[in-house]
Amino acid sequence: MTDGITVIDLFSGCGGMTQGFKGASDYKAVMAVEWNLAAAATYAANFGESHMQWGDIAKIDDARIPEADVIIGGPPCQGFSNLGSREAGDPRNKLWREYIRFVQHAKPKIFVIENVDRFLASTEFQILLKETGAGGLLAGYELTYSLLLAADYGAPQRRKRTILFGSRIGGIPMPAATHGPTELLGTNQWRTVRDAISDLPRLPGTTELPAASTQFFGVTVPGSFRSSDLHLGRTPTAMSLERYDHVPPGGGRFDLPERLLPRCWRDKKSGTTDVMGRMHWDRPSLTIRTEFFKPEKGQYLHPQWDEHDPMNRVNRPITHWEAARLQTFPDDFLWCGSKIDIAKQIGNAVPPALAAAIANHLKPYLLGSATPDLPASPGPVASSNV
Ligand SMILES: C[S@@+](CC[C@H](N)C(=O)[O-])C[C@H]1O[C@@H](n2cnc3c(N)ncnc32)[C@H](O)[C@@H]1O
Repeated sequence: MTDGITVIDLFSGCGGMTQGFKGASDYKAVMAVEWNLAAAATYAANFGESHMQWGDIAKIDDARIPEADVIIGGPPCQGFSNLGSREAGDPRNKLWREYIRFVQHAKPKIFVIENVDRFLASTEFQILLKETGAGGLLAGYELTYSLLLAADYGAPQRRKRTILFGSRIGGIPMPAATHGPTELLGTNQWRTVRDAISDLPRLPGTTELPAASTQFFGVTVPGSFRSSDLHLGRTPTAMSLERYDHVPPGGGRFDLPERLLPRCWRDKKSGTTDVMGRMHWDRPSLTIRTEFFKPEKGQYLHPQWDEHDPMNRVNRPITHWEAARLQTFPDDFLWCGSKIDIAKQIGNAVPPALAAAIANHLKPYLLGSATPDLPASPGPVASSNV
């Protein structure tokens, strides 16, 4: 990033959000915080080690928090994710308080919170709304928020996330969609799985990462790896291969014959429709989560499947490289950690394309060349077509 609008990335993970802000140019990262070593190393490999604070956010003294124009980042979401426990007392939900502490000390003009769609229904979100009122910890900040679909901002993925802007320079509207299901109203057509991965080899050359290691923060970590190192195959059983072969694009566990059904699916006649799913070539993928390499966890089978020619079927889940492409990471992004570490970094990330759309949208407000034009009252703004 060049000298310009200063940014702190909290709970940065591998830096998907920072990658998007960097792509929008004019932003300069001054601090990032991440406690997972592999993720912090990936961030450092791509954006520099000196401003990455590897460790627990709660351990960073107030005095070490620099002033910044923008804070970005999503407090961990498992507490209120659809897939998580949703316990109101989940300690992970309290991490947003750390986020607020950083806002109080860094005094950004704008802060951006990214989270799962369920965040809007959480108790924590209600408390956050309250804190922007008179006398609250975030008094002076106006909140605007919406559910955004990553596909509407150039990612080939139907990933739905809550995006929240807090601004002390006036209410900031949500960015307008740049893409849509059809080329209507001046938007481009959604990018598809074909756009993202069709040029990659159908047969992954290996199942393991190369033997490489490097030092970050004085500790040795595996990596750094290029995207092309991440085209990793798996070694499925004959039974798994037979299962994959029955699933057409858009299909899933309900396409399996009874004899191939594991007991848990045989007993569960409805729900979990995405599992053992196969992608469509000409649509955006569904959400890429952290276990995209396990077909039993979602719609992760490679889209190639010829109804009449069994030889022309790619019976495997997507590789890490393909997942990174569907998340819009560039091929020259560097990755650190084990296969599982890297899958988590990929699945947890904000797609850089969505982050770049947000960064480009905020820039004129931060540079003072656009005037916030929302009414002063906080509240949901029109959501995207999700
Ligand atoms: C959803 S991920 C963030 C993804 C990131 N915004 C991106 O775009 O790549 C949340 C991150 O918060 C980190 N985290 C959780 N608790 C933390 C803590 N107490 N201190 C620092 N980092 C923490 C996790 O390790 C995880 O990488």
